[in-house]
Amino acid sequence: MAQEQPTAAQLDEVKAAVRTLLRQPGYDDGSAGPVLVRLAWHSAGTYCASTNTGGSNGAGMRYEKEGGDPANAGLQHARSFLEPIKAKFPWITYADLWTLASIVSIKEMGGPDIAWVGGRTDYTDDSKLPPRGRLPDGALGAEHLRFIFYRMGFNDQEIVALSGAHNLGRCHADRSGYDGKWVNNPIRFSNQYYKLLLANDWKKKVLPNGVEQFVYVEEDVEAEDGERPEELMMLPTDVSLLSDSSFRPWVERYAADKDLFFDHFAKVFAKLLELGIRRDVNGRIINEENVEDGYRSAPKKSDTATAPGDQNADQLGHEAGPLKNKNTKFQAKKNGAKL
Ligand code: HEM
Repeated sequence: MAQEQPTAAQLDEVKAAVRTLLRQPGYDDGSAGPVLVRLAWHSAGTYCASTNTGGSNGAGMRYEKEGGDPANAGLQHARSFLEPIKAKFPWITYADLWTLASIVSIKEMGGPDIAWVGGRTDYTDDSKLPPRGRLPDGALGAEHLRFIFYRMGFNDQEIVALSGAHNLGRCHADRSGYDGKWVNNPIRFSNQYYKLLLANDWKKKVLPNGVEQFVYVEEDVEAEDGERPEELMMLPTDVSLLSDSSFRPWVERYAADKDLFFDHFAKVFAKLLELGIRRDVNGRIINEENVEDGYRSAPKKSDTATAPGDQNADQLGHEAGPLKNKNTKFQAKKNGAKL
């Protein structure tokens, strides 16, 4: 339904609700924050400046065409974390909710304030969705990063600043094929990623699934319980920031100056969330579908079995239930067998 743009007071209620759901003791490292950040990034990172397609407007990942892209594997966890909020505040568009949740998460995990402006609409079908394959491939290097991020309109400094989001979260063998976290505390936003990139001797490791990543184990450090700490990892794309003469100076500056990193990250992440969105002087989005339909929020996806006449049956819905099982198994593996 077309409706009015949300007020600041309404948005404050949504932000408060996101803050309450971030703590998820049964999931990964205890927070939904990292995967929510990745959801927003992947929703926006499909943007192509020359064709002006893709981006966070529309919430295209609700559709199989985009949600089923292997690059988006695992993001159903993020989407289903947000479903109770959508149920409580059905007026918010998925496109606004996904992006807003990321900046609330970053702030709550100790990161900077990031500017966010709402007004995104939800597409009513998948006709405007970008083709798959626009997101970066972690197995490649610096030239690939330029190919992907220049397409969105970013420069080298911005590529390095954005990569700092890998201070958060982890790789999952059943999602991307990579395994492990980049930093010791993956639910605290900091510049540790750059410090570790520079400080450690990253060694190539082939995982049982044949995927190659870089790893480092702190030999002399013992965790409080006397156990070895979890091995840290880097993707080939992360390590490529070190050997590229234009990227490396930014890695060094961000490692040395957390405030500078926070400042640059806030700016570049805000830019990411605005890709493909055109606004008038009052901040109202004037993309074609927004002008035609206004602020149109898609109905909440059902998270139970498909009801007769379910208007979301063709969307990537019904995700929440099966995920609980997967999370329980992941916790068991993490707590029992060391990763
Ligand atoms: C530079 C190119 C990038 C590559 C190749 C890349 C690749 C990856 C891969 C393979 C994962 C693991 C997914 C999984 O197995 O669950 C991941 C996780 C993540 N990425 Fe990136 N990424 C890139 C850039 C970014 C950017 C720009 C952001 C945000 C600004 C970001 C935020 C995240 C976060 C927060 C996670 C953790 C998700 C979780 O814990 O579930 N990444 N990334």
